[in-house]
Amino acid sequence: MALLIRNAEIVTVGSRVRADILVENETITRIGKDLKAPPNAEIIDATGKLVFPGFIDPHVHIYLPFMATFAKDTHETASIAALIGGTTTYIEMCCPNRNDDALEGYQLWKSKADGKSACDYAFHMSVTKFVKETESQLRQIVADGTASFKIFLAYKNFFGVDDGEMYQTLELAKRLGVIVTAHCENAELVVRLQQKLLAEGKTGPEWHEPSRPESVEAEGTGHFASFLENTRATGYVVHLSCEKALHAALDAKSRGVKIHVESVLPHFLLDKTYAERPGVEGMKHVMSPPLRAKHNQTALWNALALASIDTVGTDHCPFDTEQKLLGEDSFVNIPNGIPGIEDRVNLLYTHGVKRGRLDLDRFVDAASTKAAKLFGLFPRKGAIAVGSDADLVVYDTDYRGVVSAKSQHVNNDYNGFEGMEIEGRPSVVTVRGKVQVRDGKFIGERGRGKMLKREPAHF
Ligand code: URP
Ligand code: ZN
Ligand code: ZN
Repeated sequence: MALLIRNAEIVTVGSRVRADILVENETITRIGKDLKAPPNAEIIDATGKLVFPGFIDPHVHIYLPFMATFAKDTHETASIAALIGGTTTYIEMCCPNRNDDALEGYQLWKSKADGKSACDYAFHMSVTKFVKETESQLRQIVADGTASFKIFLAYKNFFGVDDGEMYQTLELAKRLGVIVTAHCENAELVVRLQQKLLAEGKTGPEWHEPSRPESVEAEGTGHFASFLENTRATGYVVHLSCEKALHAALDAKSRGVKIHVESVLPHFLLDKTYAERPGVEGMKHVMSPPLRAKHNQTALWNALALASIDTVGTDHCPFDTEQKLLGEDSFVNIPNGIPGIEDRVNLLYTHGVKRGRLDLDRFVDAASTKAAKLFGLFPRKGAIAVGSDADLVVYDTDYRGVVSAKSQHVNNDYNGFEGMEIEGRPSVVTVRGKVQVRDGKFIGERGRGKMLKREPAHF
């Protein structure tokens, strides 16, 4: 069926125009003034609203066996939450650990999503060891349309790779034209500092940040950058949290290293005092890299405005109160993660655009278009153009609300951003032309989402 969006104020990177958008067979077929509706077309009047390309979250965890438990969402719950918040595509980290077979892991992660997600999705394939079959397995995975890798410098003996494995991964990625995303914290320093703090009887969640200080992340970022420099591969630092690590990345960039930067919602809005709250309240705000001293937020917002930070993701990773309490006796056992898939767009719009930290152009770029370009989805995603998938967000800038666990769709019993105001939310969200959300309610088709096949683009 056709869909006509009338009187749209279309906001894309580099352009803002008022026009109608016609959608036929899942794609945008015309953009222009006073378009005629085909017979039986669904018509949406967007007068007074902004229309954005569907937002893309480049970093989420949905199926995740981690820290003696499993992240809480399924693709069904996460995708509905994502769509209600305006995210129409997410890229999930496929994370088999060092003891798992990579190809079996990849099939398992795919099977968890298949037919379950209400929005489109893709994967970053984690490389958590490099053994004799790794190259041929990764070649098969790339041929299957998963054209980005993930490595962890942290999480020693679980997800973490050593320097030799990092080198081999980057060298192969360079040959294949695949971008490598990386969690950049020095694993050895984290383990040593954890042991030291625990030996001193420092066991609460407030010691999580001191066990992974800014210098540990800056070292990891610089270390990754040196390996990129010497392999000439293209890299993407995930969830960069602080000014010191930012300097390490930008210093590398100024030397010509092909390095991109993502920061995630918690690091813009929450600081380390949240994890210093007593008991489980602090545990709810434990993630890695940790929440930082507040001055870092100004550095992140400024870098985002200047596009030194390319994208904003969430690192969505829900663990409930009971799971967080696994770390009651020791902060090293608190499952790491703060969910955010539902709130990213509204909080970024409110605290970025409405508070004057971010212009609309950069907002759309950071929350949608740039990820599409880096990860081989553009212009199918991240654009409003003839031929693009009709993933559209009709955005109501008059809406006023408050983020709360009571009203969320993420499968969790708390919300790390509880009580924060939002000034705007999606009024209509479409996935390939089908209306999936209206005014905070999922009204669409479960399981509509497709896995997006991507081509290597970073030779
Ligand atoms: O704390 C976090 N970030 N949890 C998820 C795993 C990861 O490091 O991305
Ligand atoms: Zn990570
Ligand atoms: Zn992550």
